Amino acid sequence: IGSSLAEAYADYFLIGTIYTPNTLVDPERSLVIEQFNCITPENIMKPESMQPSEGYFAFTLPDAMLKFAEENNIKVIGHTLVWHQQSGRFLGQTSDREKAIEQLRNHITNVVGNYKGRIMAWDVVNEAVKDGAPLPADGDWTKCLRETQWLRSIGPDYIEMAFRFAHEADPDAKLYYNDYNMNDEVKAKVVHAMVKDLRAKGVPIHGIGMQGHYDTNVSIESVEKSIKMFSELGVEVSITELDISVNDASVSKSLTEEQEVRQAIVYAKLFKLFKQYKDNIVRVTFWGTIDSKSWRRDKFPCLFRNDYTPKEAYYAILDPE
Ligand code: XIL
Repeated sequence: IGSSLAEAYADYFLIGTIYTPNTLVDPERSLVIEQFNCITPENIMKPESMQPSEGYFAFTLPDAMLKFAEENNIKVIGHTLVWHQQSGRFLGQTSDREKAIEQLRNHITNVVGNYKGRIMAWDVVNEAVKDGAPLPADGDWTKCLRETQWLRSIGPDYIEMAFRFAHEADPDAKLYYNDYNMNDEVKAKVVHAMVKDLRAKGVPIHGIGMQGHYDTNVSIESVEKSIKMFSELGVEVSITELDISVNDASVSKSLTEEQEVRQAIVYAKLFKLFKQYKDNIVRVTFWGTIDSKSWRRDKFPCLFRNDYTPKEAYYAILDPE
């Protein structure tokens, strides 16, 4: 392609994409090496993948990812330790609180400990806040937590436990709370209160991940509001799973020129905004490289077409002014 996103943003933040075992195969391999300096495993480090049966940890696929990354000077994000989805049949699935805590500790200690010093940041807790649950007047954010296996088995404390276990296992890794719809004011306020409270209690939480699964109607102002509000907590803010869907895309075809341009304009506006917050934003990671492999492939949210050629959005991001 002759240009590189990672180089274009070298003075601002890291530029990431997702990793799957297919990333090791060309042409994706070369594209990732050329354009990105950071990767997040799309699925292979999720709880059910890391610990497919109780006490058995599957390190083979992540090992291959780490080898690829280290050979090519690419940073790696661990995703994710605690989530209500893709978490298997036993983790947190008990009414015995002590047993659940032991499972949480064991999972985090083994996974984080095994990769100590090699993972730049962990999404420790993913999507723990309910949608549409406003922060109560007394500020008690624990009332806004999603009903998950961990909330049921341990209670709201599972969140701070997870961060403490992760910090013990790798004191140098940055530890993140990660969630979607973070530009929704209602959710952003809950997350803000939670992170503020945890930090005041000395819980090792260093960053907030705004996933960024948007569409072309996203309000840039709403994204800015949240970045600003989270930055004021003095934590890192990263855009962890960016993809911009084109909702009127026709599933069987590629995007029209108009749709590609419309998508490119939104990407450019967001990157202009991200640049202004470069002191807080550590990385911007795309949730997908090539449209046909995206989890939202029917809405063509990525920077590269199915034939690996760059879309309008790619060029718009290279030079968003
Ligand atoms: C998605 C993956 O992209 C899919 O392949 C998988 O089937 C489901 O999970 N929020 C997250 C990611 O934190 O882990 C999700 O990834 C997308 C939403």
